[in-house]
Amino acid sequence: MRRITFTIPRSAPALLVAAAIGCGREPPQGEATRTAAEQNLVSSFTCAPTFNRFAGPPPAGFLPFTPFDSLRSTTKLGRVDNPVFPINFVTGTAALRADLTTYIADSNAAIQLGKAFFWDMQVGSDNKVACATCHFQAGQDTRTRNQINPGGNGSFDAMLSPNYPLAAADFPFVDPLLARDVDNVTGSQGVRATTFVSISSKGVETTTPRVDPVFGTMRQVTGVNAPSTINTVYNHRNFFNGRAQNEFNGVDPFGNRNPSAHIWYDAGSAGVSPISVTITNASAASQAVGPPLNPVEMSAAGRTFPELARKMLLVKPLGLQKVDAKDSVLGLLADTKAGKGLKTTYAAMIQKAFKPAFVSSSKTVTVDNKSYTLTQANFSFFWGMAIMIYEATLIADNSPMDQYALSRTFDAAGAGYVVSEDVSVLNPVVNRMAAEGVTITTDDILYGLELFEKPLPLPGQIGIPPSARLISSPTTMATTASP
Ligand code: HEC
Repeated sequence: MRRITFTIPRSAPALLVAAAIGCGREPPQGEATRTAAEQNLVSSFTCAPTFNRFAGPPPAGFLPFTPFDSLRSTTKLGRVDNPVFPINFVTGTAALRADLTTYIADSNAAIQLGKAFFWDMQVGSDNKVACATCHFQAGQDTRTRNQINPGGNGSFDAMLSPNYPLAAADFPFVDPLLARDVDNVTGSQGVRATTFVSISSKGVETTTPRVDPVFGTMRQVTGVNAPSTINTVYNHRNFFNGRAQNEFNGVDPFGNRNPSAHIWYDAGSAGVSPISVTITNASAASQAVGPPLNPVEMSAAGRTFPELARKMLLVKPLGLQKVDAKDSVLGLLADTKAGKGLKTTYAAMIQKAFKPAFVSSSKTVTVDNKSYTLTQANFSFFWGMAIMIYEATLIADNSPMDQYALSRTFDAAGAGYVVSEDVSVLNPVVNRMAAEGVTITTDDILYGLELFEKPLPLPGQIGIPPSARLISSPTTMATTASP
């Protein structure tokens, strides 16, 4: 382990004179003759000799140094609280956010329920599409076949048809040098177009097929690609255009913009009443209630949440899938005898996770002129809350960059410069990149970090912040050409 320690006196003007100049892209060699096969080649970035890492106090007139920090940080200054499980200042441990305890009886049961919902293929009207189908790998979608949406012009352009197998040479879609101008979008494959009919008393969903004008009888593809579900619980709003609102209304993604959204509450002898809820900092819950009824992503057109509930409360949780007995969340519930699913029901899981007034009642509720149990009527609420609480456990906080951030110490005087650091924790990144054919050094990574951390001049002032640590230069940073 190489630990370098350096200290820079606060008043070291000589060290502050070198102006930092950014890195520029080298003239791309042979770009004019670039072929599709060459697009995966590496292009170089060269840092000017005076581009140095910031390691001193910000000079007068500059905004304070804002250090990059890990989500695992426990220091009061650097910590960004998990919005669902913030650290309690008194006990020092993470606990469910106070306002959520109004609804949640057992947060571990809610995590289990959310994970089962997220991974269950039976949620798809075709019993094939789960949230995880599109968010499978590190929360993202890495499938390559039938992932094309025809974009604004409605035509598949050069990529011939639905079911097209994407190849690296198809990227970038727009490239003047290759005389390529394709307005297709790499999306995420969902369900075939169908219309909802009914759920049988055994939980069998019946739908009628439709021929989609674009995708025909093939699976439809969304107009954008699935981003990661890791760390999304931190997003103020979710979705690329932010339409999953910060406040969850218990029913749909639109928060307070839907004033008629309501859930149901059993007030004992007073009966069941509709109540409106506004749960703030819950965009992950607002997001989660979108896909299950979306006729491209998961659903037959016209299915409702109470009907989806009717199905899910009748079927065995994860009943079409093997559940690993060693799974950290669901392992103990795995039905290892039957080989598939969980040895419990969604009704039991909901009952354990949520407070009884939202779950059980002797009265029924009328929705869309149909009679439902309280559990069925509140299913969208359970769905959004449980998935948000599960997603609150999907936090990336142990990467080499996290370990590096956690290894740093800063000057005690609070000027905000790094006193010690352990750069050896970045070696796995260097080695992994080398295995991919990309040459990069730990210093390159730290220069990249510098671009984010370097103190900025106050608004209205011109100037480039000085840098304090001199390095041997120039440095070449290699990076793959982005698609
Ligand atoms: C058919 C594929 C598909 C399925 C199934 C699917 N998603 Fe997504 N997901 C997407 C796409 C595409 C986007 C981006 C949509 C947008 O921003 O408009 C997305 C966006 C998201 C986001 C927002 C992330 C961000 O950074 O804004 C979250 C969180 C998410 N999905 C979770 C879920 C959950 C939970 C489910 C199940 C209820 C689900 N997804 C089902 C494809 C899918």
